[in-house]
Parts: sequence; structure tokens; C-alpha cells
Amino acid sequence: MKKDLVLCITGASGCIYGYRLLEILYKDFNIHLIISPSGYVVMKEELGLTREDILERFPNVNLIPSSKIDSHTASGSRLCVYKGVIVAPCSMSSLACIANGINQNLIHRTCEVALKERVPLILLLREMPYSVLHIENMLKVARAGAIVMPASPGFYHKPQSLQDLIDFVVGKVLDSLDIKHNLYKRWKS
Ligand SMILES: Cc1cc2nc3c(=O)[nH]c(=O)nc-3n(C[C@H](O)[C@H](O)[C@H](O)COP(=O)(O)O)c2cc1C
Repeated sequence: MKKDLVLCITGASGCIYGYRLLEILYKDFNIHLIISPSGYVVMKEELGLTREDILERFPNVNLIPSSKIDSHTASGSRLCVYKGVIVAPCSMSSLACIANGINQNLIHRTCEVALKERVPLILLLREMPYSVLHIENMLKVARAGAIVMPASPGFYHKPQSLQDLIDFVVGKVLDSLDIKHNLYKRWKS
């Protein structure tokens, strides 16, 4: 039976990471997808995609409105058996809410529940440069149990294309959830 996994896309640049994760995980997991209003704005800007396009390309995805605060992902009794919660990309605004226990939408609440239930929570952050507030919030969520990942690809696998760079970052996200993949060449010495 397929395991459940929550994928959240917020309004940071780099929604291609969330999209690529959706492409890869779609077949093997029941994906519960939450996209913030800003996430839709950036998705349109960067990928030219709308909510309808996502539903057309991934008809079996469970796309949940970010305003649906009574969703099952907001409940510890349901989320506790999930494979994990990924926020990719994660904006500094969503990071701040998660780090400070403020639930302004379903994404923040789902992350809060993941932390309290010890469900793996991966935050793929994107901003440059970081302010002290950003760094303090990263420290807070890391101490609370989240895995903080900057969207910064390595170059030791000798990327040849933009896709290689994207797949390196996405591969690291999958590694953190112990999901097998072939997205980048591992270091051999
Ligand atoms: C084109 C575009 C790119 C953005 N890139 C970033 C970014 O890389 N990191 C970030 O933290 N916010 C970025 N923002 C700002 C966020 O969208 C904004 O803070 C928003 O309130 C985040 O809300 P959300 O976390 O609920 O999606 C960007 C906004 C736009 C329009």
C-alpha cells in the first residue's frame, strides 16, 4: 500500500523544486499537496503553471486549499503515520510562522503537527542573503526537530544542465526521507 506524504509549496522562488518532487513522488506515494496563495503567484511567474494545470498533470494528487484548517493533515492522529512533510520551496515568512508556532494557514499547522508528532519535516529554504531573523528562525526549527535544507546545489557531481542542479537538491530532500533515487551521482573516493 502506498504511504502518505504531504508536499507544501510556498511563495519562495524555486517552485521548480516542489514541482520536481511532485513528478518523482507522485507514482509511489499518496501526495497531499498544499500550495499557498503566494506559491500560486510564483508558480505562475516561474513555471507558467496554474492550479488547473497541476490538477490536469497530476489527476490523483490530493490538492488541499491552504485555508482548509480542518484538513486531516492538521490532525496529529492522522499525520503521525505519514512518511513526512516537505515544504519546497519554503519562504522566510512560512519559516517564521513555523519557527514561532503561528498558524496562519494549513501549511503552518501541518508543520506544527509534524514537529509535535515527530513526523519528519523537511524545509527547503530559499532566500539570499539571510537576515539574523532568518538564521534565528532556522535555529529554532532545527532545535524543534525539522531538517533545514538550503536550496543550494553542490557542484562535485559535475552538473551539465539546470536539470542536474535541480535534481541534486531534490535528491538531497529524498535522501533525508530515506527514499531511494538516482537523481545525482554520489561521491566516490
Ligand atoms: C517572484 C517572487 C519571488 C519570491 N521569492 C522569495 C524567496 O526566494 N524567498 C522568500 O522568502 N520570499 C520570496 N518571495 C516573497 C514571498 O512570496 C512572500 O513573503 C509571501 O508572503 C510568502 O508567503 P507564503 O509563505 O505563505 O507562501 C517572493 C515573491 C515573489 C512574487
